[in-house]
Amino acid sequence: MAAIRIDGKACATACREQAARRAAELKAQGIEPHLAVILVGEDPASQVYVRNKERACEAAGIRSTVLRLPQETTQEELEAAVRKFNADAAVHGILVQLPLPRHLDEKRVLTLIDPDKDVDGFHPVNAGRLLTGEKGFVPCTPLGVMVLLKSCGIDPAGKHAVVVGRSNIVGKPMALLLLAANATVTVCHSRTENLADVTRQADILVAAVGKPGFITPEMVKEGAAVVDVGINRVDGRLAGDVDPAVAEKAAYLTPVPGGVGPMTIAMLLDNTLSAAERWQA
Ligand code: GUN
Repeated sequence: MAAIRIDGKACATACREQAARRAAELKAQGIEPHLAVILVGEDPASQVYVRNKERACEAAGIRSTVLRLPQETTQEELEAAVRKFNADAAVHGILVQLPLPRHLDEKRVLTLIDPDKDVDGFHPVNAGRLLTGEKGFVPCTPLGVMVLLKSCGIDPAGKHAVVVGRSNIVGKPMALLLLAANATVTVCHSRTENLADVTRQADILVAAVGKPGFITPEMVKEGAAVVDVGINRVDGRLAGDVDPAVAEKAAYLTPVPGGVGPMTIAMLLDNTLSAAERWQA
């Protein structure tokens, strides 16, 4: 039987409508939610991502400021820009678009962002908060996966969740969120032996490896929920990490495009609103 396709676009639309309502409520209290984005250089993909973030903010009634800095910006100049947004009480969320040009120290810049304005959730303080179960900002993509699972009634509690990929942005926070939701969690990666034996045990399988079609039907348990976080460009088209033939085996599958992708920006709006709501009376 073919898997139920998890509609990330529809879920993201609903989240964005909810975000617009939260933004309106804040404005009624005299708080204008405000996201500041720093974009360094001319990377075409980053330009598109930032433009999409701007548009999403505008549609939700969130103010956005995009600081576009030239490719040759120095570390000192970039850090000064972050400090300025940190000190600006009218800015609630700060995001530095990645990747940065190679001469810039990404880690240093991300660590400089005020953790309470870190709407990407990349600051080590927020990573620590997620690890210890304290309130903090959670990276948008894994957060979006949790909302998607919930939207189709999949409760991770007691289930075996297998995450393939161990990046700081997706794999690791994904594993922690599933653990916090009471799943039994296994994290696999490029050095995992007998990977298919592990993935076949998954009730919930999350693929975040960055290799098109990496997860094949033989690696999936009949009736599993499969979440595809991959965004790979193949011959000018988008392809996920999951072979579309997995739909014949899984009970649920997120498509690419139209699955996890649209949720990421929706969660950025949520995080920005949460940052602004801290100023509520
Ligand atoms: N580049 C690609 N994805 C992201 C993201 O989620 N946040 C930031 N800051 N940069 C990115």
